[in-house]
Amino acid sequence: MKRVLITGGAGFIGSNFIRHLLARYDYEVVNFDKLTYAGNPDNVNDLQSDRRYRFVKGDICDPAAVNVALDGCDAVVNFAAETHVDRSLIDAGAFIQTDVHGVFALLEAARQHGVERFLHISTDEVYGPRFPANPAREDDPLTPANPYAASKAGGEMQCQAFFRTYGLPIIVTRSRNNIGPRQHPEKAVALFITNALEDLPLPVYGEGLQVRDRLYVDDNCEAIDLVLHRGQPGEAYNIGADNERPNIEVAQAVLDLLDKPRDLIRFIEDRTNHDARYSLDTSKIRALGWEPQHDFETAMARTVAWYRDNPWWWQKIRSGEFSVYYQQQYAGRLARSHGP
Ligand code: NAD
Ligand code: DAU
Repeated sequence: MKRVLITGGAGFIGSNFIRHLLARYDYEVVNFDKLTYAGNPDNVNDLQSDRRYRFVKGDICDPAAVNVALDGCDAVVNFAAETHVDRSLIDAGAFIQTDVHGVFALLEAARQHGVERFLHISTDEVYGPRFPANPAREDDPLTPANPYAASKAGGEMQCQAFFRTYGLPIIVTRSRNNIGPRQHPEKAVALFITNALEDLPLPVYGEGLQVRDRLYVDDNCEAIDLVLHRGQPGEAYNIGADNERPNIEVAQAVLDLLDKPRDLIRFIEDRTNHDARYSLDTSKIRALGWEPQHDFETAMARTVAWYRDNPWWWQKIRSGEFSVYYQQQYAGRLARSHGP
């Protein structure tokens, strides 16, 4: 492998993965990103001085732009997506466009270029809620329950079709909730931390009893690296850390780590059709030799420390378009909320 096309590399996991690749290998990396509200040049600007790195602004739905970016690339890792469940509940159009149609356009271009590897980044949400816990195996049916999850499942179906029909060497990863540096503050952990740092209420949905795993992003990057190099084409790999906690405990952990009072927690009206829990069997990726290096406490402590030490990064986001979204999403619900 000499040159890798990373799509969505200005987002959270993609930017961490590009750093991981450049630190470990002598590959050239082309970062192809549309720079939506979630794509942040601050995530990758410092990489411009590395001669192996190149940024291309573009949309995965645009075949001509993808074709140019793919020139000379042996592999593709597709992180590009609309990713926030709450936004998909307001308007799923952009999700269908990027997460389904965009995946198709990218697959078609990759087929024409004859790439050696196409790694598609998917999510545990494609299996749908598993409550009580009932670990999904990779060959279980996909039964997504929300518009974001359904669009990701649609993208995966295209991947399966391109593998079966054209033999395109596609591999899929399905991971659990990542946390760590450079996650957009719309996501729960980053939102709880940045609100706490500003002494603002932490909006916990419902009674905070829904369960999520918290996988440190570096552990996911290690798993993606392993699958990129040693995964079997046509296969999917679940990635999870066994760091499951209900959301209320996550909010409490943030406040305790920052030495803030727990009465900053506010219980607000729940997300519509909120998936209570996901659950993955991760024996397949572990059999390849991967295991997470961060337990819940370490993952949370590192994440909190990064946001505490980098207010310049998140203050810029929170004072922009995000403040309008935040008002729409939370103002009314916080006014009707209750405390612990
Ligand atoms: P993110 O929202 O932080 O970043 C997404 C990136 O994709 C942004 O840089 C954005 O500009 C870019 N993008 C969006 N639409 C595009 C388009 N049409 N063309 C080109 N670029 C486009 O996302 P993330 O949290 O880093 O997630 C990355 C991938 O991992 C996604 O596919 C997501 O579904 C998957 N995933 C995320 C998690 C998680 O916990 N964050 C867990 C499992 C799977
Ligand atoms: O499971 C993997 C998925 O994890 C990824 O595929 C998605 O891209 C990613 O956004 C994430 O989805 P979630 O919906 O689980 O993440 P989010 O951070 O939005 O919410 C995590 C939990 O916290 C969820 O149970 C809802 C709850 N929550 C969320 C927000 C934004 C709150 O209680 N309050 C909030 O303000």
